[in-house]
Amino acid sequence: MKKVLIDCDPGIDDALAIALAHGDPNLDVVGITAVGGNVPLEFTTENALRLRDYYGMTAPVARGAGRPLVREGINAGNVHGVMGLGEVVLPETASELDPRHAVDLIIETLAAAPGEISLVATGPLTNIALAVRKEPRIVEWAAEFVIMGGAYSRGNRTPAAEFNIMADPEAAAVAFEAGWTTVMVGLDLTHQARANAEVRRRFEGLGRLESELLTPCLDFYGRFPDYQELGPAIHDACAIAYLIDPTLMDAVPARVDVETQGRFTSGMTVTDFKAETGNALVPTVLDQERFWDLMAEAFRVVAKA
Ligand code: BDR
Ligand code: CA
Repeated sequence: MKKVLIDCDPGIDDALAIALAHGDPNLDVVGITAVGGNVPLEFTTENALRLRDYYGMTAPVARGAGRPLVREGINAGNVHGVMGLGEVVLPETASELDPRHAVDLIIETLAAAPGEISLVATGPLTNIALAVRKEPRIVEWAAEFVIMGGAYSRGNRTPAAEFNIMADPEAAAVAFEAGWTTVMVGLDLTHQARANAEVRRRFEGLGRLESELLTPCLDFYGRFPDYQELGPAIHDACAIAYLIDPTLMDAVPARVDVETQGRFTSGMTVTDFKAETGNALVPTVLDQERFWDLMAEAFRVVAKA
């Protein structure tokens, strides 16, 4: 069983990614850290805590950075709703946050089991960059480092930049330059993971998980006219799916540099598939059938618990 530490900004697709990680028998979630991103930090943190309890998980949850390293924050409340889960408000919880800052939880968790824990980030990379700066040895301690973020063709927040990278390009640059191989599960891959009507039929009969979370979240997330047939892309779950089974994706080694200066291209992940010295592995093609099999099975496990 692979141990995984999830840094995230829930966020509808982050919420589904956490469900996948918890429900899949091959992963053991050992910590969840929240970062400001889709919505402000107070909401991403509260959502992470409530999701943890709602799914019946026990991993510690810690609050991290509320704003980017250098610039003003941006958010994606238009996509995820004001509080981050569309119109869903999960039951309040009496559980406490882990008293540590997310950066310390990341460092201490990885330090306690060098080479054993995979680190995955599905939000802006602020916490990760701060952790790398505070304790550079996490780069060796993490068994692997997988992000949902970036793109090698086009962005979504701007024509050049994907949201998680655009939200904190300087942090993303630190993460990509840290010395580990970053698995960049970007938009070119995640746009192949669409929760269309056929996919959603597979989630029927999942009781409260379906009626309280999946259906309202996916209705909200998929409400844009462009998505009516395609369905919304469940970006963050793809990063978790890579951890569970990398053979779900074709991946190509590359050199990725983050543009932090460009007037029109800030936040772009400039991807060179021909570079001699790479720093990244970039999944390009998703086995959609097997991906949705994993999701449906994990949701079934979470629903039953
Ligand atoms: C990414 O941005 C966020 O809105 C989603 O949660 C995902 O992590 C997609 O660009
Ligand atoms: Ca996210």
